[in-house]
Amino acid sequence: MAAVDVVVMAAGKGTRMKSGLPKVLHRLGGRALLAHVIEAAAGLSPRRVVVVTGHGAQQVDEAVQGFAKAAGLAACQCVLQSPQLGTGHAVQQALPLLPEDGTCLVLNGDVPLIETATLQALVAACGGERLALLTVDMPDPTGYGRIVRAGEAVQAIVEHKDASEAQRAINEVYTGFMAVPNRLLRGWLGRIGNDNAQREYYLTDVVELAVQDGLTVTAMKVADRVQVDGVNSPLQLAELERAYQLRGARALMEAGVRLADPARLDVRGHLACGQDVEIDVSCVFEGEVSLGDGVRIGAHCVIANARIEAGALIRPFTHIDGEKLGVEVGEGAELGPFARLRPGARLGAQVHIGNFVEVKNSTLARGAKANHLAYLGDATVGERVNYGAGSITANYDGANKHRTVIEADVHVGSNCVLVAPVTLGAGGTVGAGSTITKDTPAGALSVARGKQVTIANWQRPVKKPRA
Ligand code: UD1
Ligand code: MG
Repeated sequence: MAAVDVVVMAAGKGTRMKSGLPKVLHRLGGRALLAHVIEAAAGLSPRRVVVVTGHGAQQVDEAVQGFAKAAGLAACQCVLQSPQLGTGHAVQQALPLLPEDGTCLVLNGDVPLIETATLQALVAACGGERLALLTVDMPDPTGYGRIVRAGEAVQAIVEHKDASEAQRAINEVYTGFMAVPNRLLRGWLGRIGNDNAQREYYLTDVVELAVQDGLTVTAMKVADRVQVDGVNSPLQLAELERAYQLRGARALMEAGVRLADPARLDVRGHLACGQDVEIDVSCVFEGEVSLGDGVRIGAHCVIANARIEAGALIRPFTHIDGEKLGVEVGEGAELGPFARLRPGARLGAQVHIGNFVEVKNSTLARGAKANHLAYLGDATVGERVNYGAGSITANYDGANKHRTVIEADVHVGSNCVLVAPVTLGAGGTVGAGSTITKDTPAGALSVARGKQVTIANWQRPVKKPRA
């Protein structure tokens, strides 16, 4: 098969987004629209990808390099289109980067859900020698370019603004995707003008030129509208987001995941699930998250960049964000409700983290428990430690962070402050309300608080009578 060069049009302003951010950088499923398009293109192993930028070019250029890297694309370049004189003019900007041989595949930076398989089929329809268009039937085709045929043969694409009443009645429209031999494209783009209602150079005029040259134009119709839906407004972005999420939810359910409601799940990244995973309503997963066999996630949890091992139970309203360091939750651990795990929290098997407990950059060994209103930051916690309600590690001295080590089987009473760096020896007990500033010996009771004093028959002050 002929080599494929992809041209992504992404210069448009996106006026209807009413946003300072270039349209193609708005996010869907946690990734920029343009990142989705580049990923779909990468699936074809193209010879090169050229992104045509205009509005917000510098910002888009910078982002594109990241998208290309993530998609494993070696050759991805941007070309500037300034001013933007139409889609034909946009593709003209990419021509100097296209060799004579090969097939050009034209994509839209704001149509994110196109699938690689569809692109593959379009390239095959082009066959290295024909102009192939991707079309779709629209119940309301207003605004789109109509596919005008004579019998079966495609004759032209007529833009809505230039169309006659009869042409406006056509429901088959051009999706914005085409595959065409580079050599033919170059010739035709040299011949298009802007004598039309919008005074723009229309890429779609290449159809009439192909017909004039006596070539057949192939139209391939997609049944799945979502793949060719563009984003022009916040409403369309939200609608496509729901379509995308539903697609992902269906795939998870087909793999056996039990979602309480497929319409109330958001995955902004990648969610891997084992067998017998249950997810209640309104959970959000971000970045890379994996859930082992039998994991249950309660309602309204937000979980990012975390690995949760088999049998763990995450109760409602738990927030986990591993950011770059990640979070690990061991087998059979129980979290929440209202637990918070921050980057570098590593919980062993059977660990319990209860309501309003925050854990950051800390390791908790098997069976350790912190059940109520507590903070563990920069701590190493041994097996079976019981960490009392309201206790905190004072890990930050205003300039540096320090570690707290709590050895196995320590019992920390309620409302303790452990001033780091400090080590609590194995099996020791810390009395409630203690402020611990020195290491405590193994097996001992350590108490560091004011002694309780009793004064018998204490007379409370009384108010003086007014003079
Ligand atoms: C275009 C098609 C129309 C099709 C529709 C599908 C043309 C002339 N018309 O119309 O047949 O039904 O898409 O959505 O192609 N862009 C540039 N530079 C420009 C102009 C546009 O990069 O100078 C980019 C836009 O950012 C966008 C894409 O090209 O990603 C399509 O442009 P848009 O203005 O949306 O074209 P439509 O008028 O919708
Ligand atoms: Mg458009």
